[in-house]
Order: sequence, then structure tokens, then C-alpha cells
Amino acid sequence: MDRPRIVLGVGGGIAAYKACELLRRLTESGHEVRVVPTAAALHFVGEATWSALSGAPAATEVWERVHEVPHVRLGQEADLVVVAPTTADLLAKAATGLADDLLTNTLLTARCPVVLAPAMHTEMWEHPATQQNVATLRGRGVLVVEPAVGRLTGVDTGKGRLPEPEELALLCRRVLARGTAALDADLAGRHVVVSAGGTREPLDPVRYLGNRSSGKQGYALARTAVARGARVTLVSANVSLPEPAGARVVEVGTAEELREAMVKASAEADAVVMAAAVADFRPAARASQKIKKRDGVAPEPVALVRNPDVLAELAAGRPAGQVVVGFAAETENVLAGGRAKLASKGCDLLVVNQVGERRTFGSEENEAVILDADGGEEAVPHGPKEALADRVWDAVLRRLPPRDAG
Ligand code: CTP
Repeated sequence: MDRPRIVLGVGGGIAAYKACELLRRLTESGHEVRVVPTAAALHFVGEATWSALSGAPAATEVWERVHEVPHVRLGQEADLVVVAPTTADLLAKAATGLADDLLTNTLLTARCPVVLAPAMHTEMWEHPATQQNVATLRGRGVLVVEPAVGRLTGVDTGKGRLPEPEELALLCRRVLARGTAALDADLAGRHVVVSAGGTREPLDPVRYLGNRSSGKQGYALARTAVARGARVTLVSANVSLPEPAGARVVEVGTAEELREAMVKASAEADAVVMAAAVADFRPAARASQKIKKRDGVAPEPVALVRNPDVLAELAAGRPAGQVVVGFAAETENVLAGGRAKLASKGCDLLVVNQVGERRTFGSEENEAVILDADGGEEAVPHGPKEALADRVWDAVLRRLPPRDAG
């Protein structure tokens, strides 16, 4: 039997179908995954699907292959156990230590990080019994993901959805990279505000001036801050990525809208990170009707006016103790340019990266230097955007005043 690295437990809920996509993402990124569906999960997605997607038989029974002692080995040998979806029943069993099937046995024998992604109806999630089980599990160091808000089975909507598989896969990757440090809630009790994406400045009802920011770095910052226990407001400009579970998302379009949302959200925040690409200019006029071409007539030039510098404004008006972080993409003189920008914007930290062809925009990876206002400089090697996000939060934490000192 190959040594499993990730155990994917699947509970009996309709969201089991999303676990197929999570499994595909985990195996495609090179992880070895053993799937452990509960008997109820097999009513939703059958054994053949799990085996085909994982390339190994799904482990379902304590009484199968008894000589391999699967109820002990699977948990002992895993580097990560993730259960998606986790039903209310599974949360209760995990919290009380019940072990009446292979998955619950695996949870008891696992000594690696455990991630539980609950999915259930809002009433079940909000029930004091469930909430108490979640608190118990979190108190023991289990990472219980906040369910997403949205459409549930049937016509209901509310909190209780399984976060998107892409989100869960990224979370698993982060936990594997950081080990149990990924479970530290060192931002607990903190409110952080992150901007992400790129603003669009309308020319007319159908056209805009925009940029190529994908929002991935800002979303990685939001996701990691949630995982570290922070209350997160994500001001998102034109991003087509799944919402990071547990963050409050405020959608904006233009630089003006972004400014308004950021000023409002950051008034009482502990840290503000401007990862969005904000357009420095906007068309001086927005045509109320679509601009038409006319044969033989030269197009009108587009007159531009300056947009507010949101980062500089936030830095200038920040309350005592708030840490303000900017991002800068430079094509040349990266460090000198970054230092000058840090000073002119007046922020505490500036994350500088070099952009150019095929670098940074839209990619999953990033490489940067974190400059601080006291002259410090920390190079973050090429790696996943979550890894850079974690280093940014580490740097923010070093500058935050201790909680009690306000
Ligand atoms: N930024 C902002 N408001 C703007 C422009 C930029 O808040 N109108 C923020 C970005 O979110 C980023 C930082 O400022 O955190 C640096 O952005 P960058 O575009 O590199 O800086 P600019 O001041 O626009 O400098 P440049 O002349 O190099 O474009």
C-alpha cells in the first residue's frame, strides 16, 4: 500500500459532489490522496468515482484489508486530513471522539493537521450544539473552515455552503506548507482590510480603462488572514475568483468606489493592505450613451483626470497603531524605486515585485521584497502567493502594538 499523504474524508451531504473537484485539484498538484467516504457519502457519490479520481481504492470500511490495520494507519501516516463536506453529525462525532467507522477512526489516530470544511443547512450550523462542537474542535487545534454564504440545497440560501473546491485546495496547500504553524490563530481578535483586483474606469456604458490584475495576491492575503483568525474585510475590484470563505467581501468597480469602501472599512482596522491595482487616471467624462464610430471623422481624444491615491490617503489618516501596507509593481530599479515609493506613500510596509512579461500578472506564484519604513528589507523567494501572504502578515504582526495596549 502506498503511503497516503492526504486523507480526504467525505461526509454524507450533497456537497460531496464538490469533493470530487477538490480531489482532482489535490491529485493534479502532485499529492497522493486516499479518499475515505462515509457510508452516507456513498449515497451521493459512488466508490467508482473516488477510485478513478484518486487512482487508489476508496477506503470505506474498518473491516476491509484488516491486516493493514487501516483504521490506525491511514490517520497515522497522513500529512493532512481534510474532511469535505463535514456534516453536523461528523462534527459531533469528532468533538466527542466517537469512532464508529473508518473516517472517525482516522480522525482519532491523525497526528497531522486536520481541516474540517462543514456544509449543512443554516439552522444546523447555527444550532448551539454544532457551535459548541466547532468551538471544542478549534480549541483542540483543528482548523474548522467557516461555511460560505449562498445557495443551499433546493431553494434555500444562507450560511452553510461548502466553500469552492479551489479555495479548499489552496487552503490544504497552505496547511501542508506551514504544518501546524498554519493553524496558529495569531491574528485572532484583529480586523484587517485588504483590497484586491484592478479598478475599471468607465468611458461609456460598455467600455472602460482597466488593468490586468487578477486579484489572486489580494485573495491569498484575505484567505491567509482568515486562516490566522482575523476578521477580514476584502474590498474586491472586478475579480472573478471564488470568495475566500469567512471574509466579508465588498465589491467595487472604480477607484472612487474602492476609495470609499476602503476609507469606511479601515476606520477601526488593525491593518490595511492595498493589494489592488488602482487606476491612477480616469476618463474626465463618462459618456451616457455608447460612443459611436463615424466614418471619416477622427475619434475624440480621451481626456484623463487623476484619481485619488488611496494608499497615501489611508496612510496619512490612519489611527494610532494601524499598520498600512502597500504593493508596488516595478519594471526596473526595483529596490530603489520601492524605497522612494514607501516614503512618498507614507506607509509602514511596501511589498515590491518586479513585473514584466509572464511575471506576476495572473500567475499562481510571486516573488517579492518586503520593505519596512525603518529601513528593513526581507526577500521572499519565488513561491505560492499564499506563502508571500503569510510573510506579509508576519511582518504586519511584528509592527502591530500588543493587543492590550490598544
Ligand atoms: N495605489 C492607490 N491609489 C492609486 C494608485 C495606487 O492606493 N491611485 C496603491 C496601490 O494599491 C499600491 C500602491 O499604491 O498599493 C502602489 O501602486 P503603484 O501603481 O505602483 O504606484 P503609483 O503611485 O501609481 O506609482 P507609479 O507612478 O509607479 O504608477
